[in-house]
Amino acid sequence: MTGHTARRMVTASARSNVPPFMVMDVMAAAARIEAAGGRVIHMEVGQPAAPAPKTAIDAARAALAGTPIGYTETLGIPSLRARIARFYAETYRVPVAPERIVVTTGSSAGFILAFLAMFEAGDRVAIATPGYPPYRHILSALGCESVLIETTPATRWAITSEMLLAAHARQPLQGVLIASPANPTGTMMSAQSFARLIQAAEGAGINVISDEIYHGLDYALPAETAARLSERAVVINSFSKYFCMTGWRVGWMVAPPELVRPIERLQQNLAISVPTLSQIAAEAAFEGRAEMEEVKRGYQENRRILLEGLPPAGLDTFLPADGAFYLYANVAHLTDDSFDFAKRMLEQAGVAATPGADFDPVRGKHYLRFSYAGSAADMREAVERIGGWLRKV
Ligand SMILES: Cc1ncc(COP(=O)(O)O)c(C=O)c1O
Repeated sequence: MTGHTARRMVTASARSNVPPFMVMDVMAAAARIEAAGGRVIHMEVGQPAAPAPKTAIDAARAALAGTPIGYTETLGIPSLRARIARFYAETYRVPVAPERIVVTTGSSAGFILAFLAMFEAGDRVAIATPGYPPYRHILSALGCESVLIETTPATRWAITSEMLLAAHARQPLQGVLIASPANPTGTMMSAQSFARLIQAAEGAGINVISDEIYHGLDYALPAETAARLSERAVVINSFSKYFCMTGWRVGWMVAPPELVRPIERLQQNLAISVPTLSQIAAEAAFEGRAEMEEVKRGYQENRRILLEGLPPAGLDTFLPADGAFYLYANVAHLTDDSFDFAKRMLEQAGVAATPGADFDPVRGKHYLRFSYAGSAADMREAVERIGGWLRKV
């Protein structure tokens, strides 16, 4: 050290010690192949290949050319909150007061706000495995405990009211997080099992958070909203998936009336407000639903190509692909290490998928998640490449 005091290392907090997202490692490996001139079919990333609705982009352009982009009210632009409330009436025939809508920086911020508003440090929250990893990682960073409930085909890969109450009897739970359609499986709960689970949870004093980010992308059965069933449940949603607006970072919550003010105080301090341009675009996105329905028809076609094409190619066991844009494939007949399998499939077949270990610490070694949010041509090529590769290995 020249003339300076010796540099002392900063010690990272224990709570920051959350696991990485393995999909990022797959993406980095794919990028290296592409940088060297190779072609990769990207089925690892859970984001639409299509852009935001034209109505959203036009509204953002017009806003940029107009008044300065300042902060907004912490709970969101009032007209956007009203428009989101109207969406519940239009889509589900459920009246929701605009005062209960909180606009957030993607659903990701919605989870942080919901967990902070509902739980104390040390509280226990039930989550299904396989499941979206940030649920448990956000909870652990906030000092809460996630209680992983293993799901199987016996309950169609969902937590049932019986499983929840059994876990609660073993050691009390303060919360349960449900997602239908789910990530990584794409599997949905029937309206009846969804309602039974919410009723059982609330009967036992367990707070419910319903991640509805994949609503709108339902193929096998219609998605049910927790907003119909309970005013106590927190509903979390986003413009990222159905509206193809991942990078705009805008989502929303439907909060119980008594949590709106606590969430507002939290968001005032944590974020001030959500990016204004994104809120303006989000409001206009609702007028672009015809365009988004076209995108959804593309996912349906991709889903068909994979469900018909992958079995003869050598991958024939999937969890029920009811919604979202994921296929969760069992590869136990091919490997005991899906991370290594994904790496080899990327290097040798040029198809990137996400190893299941991201979503299920125990059984993930036998699963791969494929995202079918890309083009139909890519799906057909992926089927061919995977088939050709599996015939060789
Ligand atoms: C199940 C689920 N919930 C939430 C998110 C977070 O999305 P965003 O913060 O973009 O709304 C994702 C993203 O992939 C997801 O798959």
